[in-house]
Amino acid sequence: MNSVIELENVTKIFTNTQGIIRRKKKRVYALHDVNLSIGEKEILGLIGESGSGKTTLGLAVLRLLDLEGGRILFKGKDILSMDKREIFKFREKTEMIFQDPYGSLNPVQSVYKIISTPYKVFNKNVKERDVIEKVMDTLEMVGLTPPEQYLAKYPNQLSGGQRQRVGIARAIITNPEFLVADEPVSMLDVSLRADVLNILLESRLKLGTSILFISHDIAVTQYVSDRIAVMHLGQIVEIAESTELVNNPLHPYTQTLINSIPIPDPKKKWDTSEPKALAGEYNNEGKNECSFARKCPFVMDRCRNSRPKMIEKGDKHYVACYLYE
Ligand SMILES: Nc1ncnc2c1ncn2[C@@H]1O[C@H](COP(=O)(O)OP(=O)(O)OP(=O)(O)O)[C@@H](O)[C@H]1O
Ligand code: SF4
Ligand SMILES: [Mg+2]
Repeated sequence: MNSVIELENVTKIFTNTQGIIRRKKKRVYALHDVNLSIGEKEILGLIGESGSGKTTLGLAVLRLLDLEGGRILFKGKDILSMDKREIFKFREKTEMIFQDPYGSLNPVQSVYKIISTPYKVFNKNVKERDVIEKVMDTLEMVGLTPPEQYLAKYPNQLSGGQRQRVGIARAIITNPEFLVADEPVSMLDVSLRADVLNILLESRLKLGTSILFISHDIAVTQYVSDRIAVMHLGQIVEIAESTELVNNPLHPYTQTLINSIPIPDPKKKWDTSEPKALAGEYNNEGKNECSFARKCPFVMDRCRNSRPKMIEKGDKHYVACYLYE
């Protein structure tokens, strides 16, 4: 499978100031030596607790952040050394779907304006009649039918599920080759989630879009993703095909995440943002140790003095843990 996106040893450090009187600078490795690839037409799920670096990774692959180290390639081209023309093309071919269907749409723009704007930016001389047709087709694709009924509406006249469909329509109208969907259903009612997820699956099928699907929710991630990567404190600790990862988690952190999924209850969210077993303040300061060493029940001396490398422990199943070396 050809890669659409490749991350090679990607490192992103944020410097935060702490303390009111003695102001100390603290470096947080939001991404620490990340290697990852997303294939053509692949949906790659990215899971991990809050603060593990998922959004940072999503922003980095869309060229919305500088890096402290490593490279990100889009179809073989380093995205940080693109010229203006290449960046314009890159922007056309990559899009993002946001978590918040309420805050991510401009409240004073009509649905038509919101969805048509990116299309017009990348199709300069297109006739208005063709734009209307394209917007209507896209509205149909995301299940907002009959489309004429939605064109003149404003976000406050739509439900959360309908707004998220408008967000997806805006993202797919340019036929992107790569999409980042950051928690796209976490703010929606459980009853609406499957519909929105199916729209993403359909756009992959119809448009061939590759998707980085970021979520706290393992069940939702398994439903949409071909493979799942697990992040912990800025590092990818395990990656495998979705069913394999959920049925046979190898890394102690993944095992804790999967064991923390509550018994399905339709009234409850399956949210692993702060699994009880992992609660507690701890940031990645870039130490030369396994990112899970301070919480792992199997920790050994070597885990505290070096970082395990990713190794293949089964068909396309990779894990970074000394228990498997
Ligand atoms: N702009 C920023 N400035 C300073 N620190 C940041 C910034 N963005 C993220 N961080 C830090 O980087 C780390 C990773 O954050 P990130 O938002 O990528 O995590 P996440 O996995 O998306 O979390 P969540 O599940 O809560 O969305 C955290 O420690 C966070 O505090
Ligand atoms: S490398 Fe060591 S500390 Fe890290 S997960 Fe494996 S056993 Fe635990
Ligand atoms: Mg996030």
